[in-house]
Amino acid sequence: MKYAFPDNFWWGSASSALQTEGTREGETTWDYWFAREPNRFHNGVGPQHTSTFYQHWKTDIQLLKQLNHNSFRTSISWERLIPDGIGEVNPDAVDFYNQVIDELNEQGITPFITLFHFDMPMAMQEIGGWENRDVVDAYARYAQICFELFGDRVLHWFTFNEPIVPVEGGYLYDFHYPNVVDFRRAATVAYHTVLAHAKAVQAYRAGHYAGEIGIVLNLTPSYPRSRNPADVKAAHIADLMFNRSFLDPVLRGEYPADLVALLKSYDQLPACKPEDGFLIAEGKIDLLGVNYYQPRRVKCRDSAVNPQAPFMPEWFFDNYEMPGRKMNPYRGWEIYAPGIYDILVNLRDNYGNPRCFISENGMGVENEQRFIENGQINDQYRIDFISEHLSWLHKGISEGCNCLGYHMWTFIDNWSWCNAYKNRYGFIQLDVETQQRTIKKSGEWFAATALNNSFDKE
Ligand code: BG6
Repeated sequence: MKYAFPDNFWWGSASSALQTEGTREGETTWDYWFAREPNRFHNGVGPQHTSTFYQHWKTDIQLLKQLNHNSFRTSISWERLIPDGIGEVNPDAVDFYNQVIDELNEQGITPFITLFHFDMPMAMQEIGGWENRDVVDAYARYAQICFELFGDRVLHWFTFNEPIVPVEGGYLYDFHYPNVVDFRRAATVAYHTVLAHAKAVQAYRAGHYAGEIGIVLNLTPSYPRSRNPADVKAAHIADLMFNRSFLDPVLRGEYPADLVALLKSYDQLPACKPEDGFLIAEGKIDLLGVNYYQPRRVKCRDSAVNPQAPFMPEWFFDNYEMPGRKMNPYRGWEIYAPGIYDILVNLRDNYGNPRCFISENGMGVENEQRFIENGQINDQYRIDFISEHLSWLHKGISEGCNCLGYHMWTFIDNWSWCNAYKNRYGFIQLDVETQQRTIKKSGEWFAATALNNSFDKE
């Protein structure tokens, strides 16, 4: 069967500043944490070991072109642009981002720019990070500076990438700095992130820029083990906490009432100011980026909660390992392509069918060298993964979902937070030592798909 996509469909990939640029002198939370606890990073490889986009941006953009990308998302490093988060703008950073943006436009590749992709200037974390409302204001100023500097040539902005992840990693589950385990602080960080988002949207609207502004959320559909009301309730609470805590404010301009009531009943609500509600209502977006990697399967808890243990989302559900589920064993994530369709249908039916696109989807695989044939990684598994997901996306579009594009994570194999180079996601293989780039079979497949705006699959 031939799967054809609408005209002007966005074909591309996503990356982020810290994971690709290299050549930095300043300090982000990641540099600080790595200097103190290198053992928390796979093989002790830290954030300075990147795919060197800071040097190789021009030739990398040629490679994007070769892969027939018509769009590409990366982020601006707040710390590179404003090293202490709040003070002087670094002119070298302005030059760098200007060159990248101009070259992308010149090559016919529309730049999609994220303002915050997990990397905070350490100076901002030192004053409390997202727990401090001064950091919210500093971020709003940074966003405004970016709009003023680049807003004439960047027409697609994203305030945050996966804002729930720093909440989970930094304040609940110990996989980002500052490694806190405290639900109320996590809720404060999430709430302030929504305020920061809304302030950036407000600044963008006030500047009457030509483009559009949105956010990128990692949506993990919550599937209950069964239709038993206890399982359904467990899935509903997981959905409130992990999806709707951001989805509702940015699309509806308010929090779900049952999430607020739940947190209130456990005395976990962040401190709110009366004017916050108006601000959040003004944070509604033009475009939603959806990152989809895996579903969340849950069941009701089998055991009672230990009242001495810290309050956690898992007080309300257990994770459910569905028999027969298909796993990506390297990352430990389930592969479930229909999830992409379920997300789009949910957006269509419950959120007014917003303009959206798949902003990340992908499969990290370990030791891909074993698949080299005639000098090229033959990653047929990745082609199967993409085409399977695209076929469900196609079904969503054919049923009226407003999905405008598909971006893959990622372009060139890159450094990945605590996993460093363990799992490779790229269309292009990176030799970390020599920095040599080699297109994988999936890169060629994607280039053909983007060129034809369609692909064939049985
Ligand atoms: C997304 C992030 O969560 O998934 C990326 O936006 C990240 O920054 C990607 O690299 C893959 O996840 P991981 O943890 O395997 O790198």
